[in-house]
Amino acid sequence: MGTALGANLLLAAIILAINGASAHGTSLALDTTGRVAFLWFWAAYAGGALASLFGAAFLPLKKLGRELGLAFAAAFLVHLTLVSWLCWIGSAPPIGIFLFFGPVAALIFILALLSFGNLHRMLGPKLWWQLRTVGMNIILVAFLKDFMQDPLHGGVRHIVEYLPFTAMAIAAFLLRLAAWGLRLRETRFNLH
Ligand code: HEM
Repeated sequence: MGTALGANLLLAAIILAINGASAHGTSLALDTTGRVAFLWFWAAYAGGALASLFGAAFLPLKKLGRELGLAFAAAFLVHLTLVSWLCWIGSAPPIGIFLFFGPVAALIFILALLSFGNLHRMLGPKLWWQLRTVGMNIILVAFLKDFMQDPLHGGVRHIVEYLPFTAMAIAAFLLRLAAWGLRLRETRFNLH
């Protein structure tokens, strides 16, 4: 968590130092730190599926799922700090962004909070699994909404900035779907 928070803080500080702490510089910092946070999220979201599909090489990712999720939440804290800065300098994003992304931001911290200590035991294993699964997919959809901005058009720079991230988000979902299919097949096979 410390590494993820520190790295995104440093990145934001460098971008603001180079481009200025105006709305333009802050938007650049938001875009960049949002992408770095997505990399932590991707590893937390797809790690388990990678281990199920491709074996032991990915087991460390699966075992570190909770830590990677917490690293994502820590990196995302920088995103919200930059949003607060935008509001403070009088360039608050449109209300629609708060209405759509605000609940998702709250969800990120609810999941992070519940993963500490025994808090999720109150929910029981089944409900905790359901909440995690639904929650992680909602967060993935939020990322997809950000990255699916016509990723194939708008010049080379736009494509480089959007297409790889759109592809990674879709791939993460497909990996989870494939791992789920594999588990289902194994369960059925074991029953016969
Ligand atoms: C209160 C909640 C949030 C606010 C107000 C907010 C605001 C913003 C703003 C103003 C930008 C810069 C857009 C620009 O370049 O002009 C941005 C970028 C971004 N945000 Fe958020 N955000 C919020 C939550 C989230 C959440 C929950 C996610 C993902 C789960 C997210 C992911 C991203 C990403 C990936 C970018 C880069 C988008 C791009 O490059 O076009 N944000 N956000």
